[in-house]
Amino acid sequence: HVPGLVDRFGRTATDLRVSLTDRCNLRCTYCMPAEGLPTLPKDAVMSRTEIARLVGVATRELGVRQVRFTGGEPLLRADLVDIVRDVAALPQRPEISLTTNAVGLDHRARALRDAGLDRVNISLDTLDPDTFARLARRPFLERTLAGISAAAEVFDVIKINAVLVRGLNLDHAADLLAWCLERGFELRFIEQMPLDADHAWDRAAMVTAAEVRRQLGERFTLTADEEPRDGAPAERFVVRPGGGGAPLGRVGVIASVTEPFCGDCRRTRLTAEGAVRDCLFAHTETDLLGPLRTGADDGTLADLWRTAMWGKRAGHGMAASGFVQPARTMSAIGG
Ligand code: GTP
Ligand code: 5AD
Ligand code: SF4
Repeated sequence: HVPGLVDRFGRTATDLRVSLTDRCNLRCTYCMPAEGLPTLPKDAVMSRTEIARLVGVATRELGVRQVRFTGGEPLLRADLVDIVRDVAALPQRPEISLTTNAVGLDHRARALRDAGLDRVNISLDTLDPDTFARLARRPFLERTLAGISAAAEVFDVIKINAVLVRGLNLDHAADLLAWCLERGFELRFIEQMPLDADHAWDRAAMVTAAEVRRQLGERFTLTADEEPRDGAPAERFVVRPGGGGAPLGRVGVIASVTEPFCGDCRRTRLTAEGAVRDCLFAHTETDLLGPLRTGADDGTLADLWRTAMWGKRAGHGMAASGFVQPARTMSAIGG
């Protein structure tokens, strides 16, 4: 029995999300400012060896069973394939997944799969090139689609993440769903959270999960999925044609703001700088990379990690008055 990452509310973190870089090649309005953000110096970021060491502590000493690599954009790491291979070679191999914008994935999907990557979640907000360029502030729709095609050839499970922004891609939701269903991808709509660099998030303007369900309901029939949710952020629905009939696939809604799922949270995070974040919305972090670099052993690192998670709050507190947006943006946490 491994004494795991338990918090004072009785939750146990078994999913680890590791940010591999704070850099990104897009500038999505709900995440980064147009001019970008100051980037970390290279030696402040975990190396390939340090990542394998800390993930190894998590899997051997702390009961972590799933590892997801995020960013910024994880494909910007030249050593991503090696990082995946190292983690896949750990004695208690976790499930390994990647969250990416897929720009450049066409060249690396196969190598990543061969190195041990199990599945990918890809961000795609619209299929319209002009809207894509306005939302991501880069004209890279073609490159994203090429990455998705390559991923579909080698991975069994592909999930697509979409954030809907009023006045930009809200009307594209049903088209995006039809496109994903045709290809066997599981689309998830994510409520926009206050993690943007511009602090422009506006609760009243945010597209809610209820609104998404209503809009999809005009073209499809959605029914609750029977499969247990199991702590996942996404609430899943079986999708049928508007008039009913055989299922076309599934769709998910991630209602972080209006229907929070913090009570069943199983996540712990490592920043690109090797610090533990107990929550997306944490205001404090616990450095592990510093101690690792000055010779701390695995047991010490595991104790630091356990202590960090014990401080996890019950929830993000977005609904409470006095809610303060964390200093880090989504690009520096990785979702
Ligand atoms: P799987 O369900 O295992 O495929 O992964 P996932 O959905 O957890 O991972 P992904 O990186 O695709 O995350 C999708 C979105 O879920 C993120 O962009 C966040 O918006 C949201 N999310 C993930 N973790 C958390 C969390 O701890 N809290 C909140 N509020 N939202 C989260
Ligand atoms: N709110 C919700 N989701 C966000 N993402 C980025 N910024 C935000 C935000 N402010 C999503 C991206 C990607 C995932 C990693 O996080 O669209 O799918
Ligand atoms: Fe880059 Fe993802 Fe942020 Fe878009 S949401 S700017 S793809 S890190």
